[in-house]
Amino acid sequence: ASLAGRNTLRVDARAALLVDVRDAAALPEALAFPWIRNAPLLVVGEGSNLLLTRDFPGVVLAPSMRGIAAIDDDGEHGIVRAQAGESWNDLVLWTLGRGYAGLENLVLIPGAVGAAPIQNIGAYGVELAEFVHAVDAYDRMNGIPVRFANADCAFGYRDSRFKREPDRYVVTALELRLPRRRALRLDYAGVREELASMGVAEPTPSLVAEAVSRLRRRKLPDPAAIGNAGSFFKNPIVSNAQADALASEHAGLPRWPAGDATKLSAAWLIEQSGLKGARDGDAGISERHALVLVNHGRATGADLWAFAQRVQLEVRERFGVALEAEPRVV
Ligand code: EPU
Repeated sequence: ASLAGRNTLRVDARAALLVDVRDAAALPEALAFPWIRNAPLLVVGEGSNLLLTRDFPGVVLAPSMRGIAAIDDDGEHGIVRAQAGESWNDLVLWTLGRGYAGLENLVLIPGAVGAAPIQNIGAYGVELAEFVHAVDAYDRMNGIPVRFANADCAFGYRDSRFKREPDRYVVTALELRLPRRRALRLDYAGVREELASMGVAEPTPSLVAEAVSRLRRRKLPDPAAIGNAGSFFKNPIVSNAQADALASEHAGLPRWPAGDATKLSAAWLIEQSGLKGARDGDAGISERHALVLVNHGRATGADLWAFAQRVQLEVRERFGVALEAEPRVV
């Protein structure tokens, strides 16, 4: 089966078998099927955080269960339950439309609901982890459905227990606890300025979502127009001493405190290495945003991965900083 339409980097790779699961109840049976049980398995949602470097010699499982519902509401908070196959942005808009706050900064992040907790999606100063009530999954290792409370998900920056044990858990549903009212987060990456330019004096969650949408549309390449997987590298976390040393050599180095260490801007390091807009054949770095690896047309997964490794090497040589890929590289 072709996976070309199932990864936003538009890599034309193939899988031996592609299984779309529309009903969570059918999952145990599908996974117990002898050939499927013994084959390598890759779970793919919308494929917006995935680089396929070659054909996949096993089963690609696409959870496509649908449904969003508020299952509880005490007037101040609601619990919203969404099935894994829903689109993340549809869930954000659904919650905002029903008067729940919290997800406004996470609008327009590509991908499926089931993928969201795996890498703890985040943007504009907010991370999903803050709102997770529970994650329902199927544990392939023990062959049983499991439910994780927030504290059991081991969430970190673009990280979780699900990411650390790839393909052990198939996420089937996500439950979020969302407030009716909440202080808006505007102090990040130009949100406040965007609201001002929209003429907004009293922001609401929906207006913040609109501001973030405008920022994203302007800054990030649209996967519908050019193959990409959003940020391709994590922002590196280095010791304060290393950050101080780099800052003394490189004026204007962006840096943010991260616990007792320092987070640097991978985009800045890449741009300063002269790689923004660079390309080799059809694999390259976006001219719009230095953190985004793009497929200009016919790049293979191997071409894209080779280019990403070149970026890692050049940034390491220039700055002594290791960049880690953010998407799943298969
Ligand atoms: N910058 C450059 N060159 C560029 C772009 C940015 O030098 O081409 C520098 C600027 O100095 C800027 C800084 O990088 O101040 C940070 O840029 P930006 O605000 O665009 O955010 P980011 O750190 O590059 C992160 C997330 C994004 C998220 C944005 C906004 C990661 C890996 N990426 O990017 O998430 O949308 O913040 O909150 O943490 C994703 O994960 O796929 C993703 C797009």
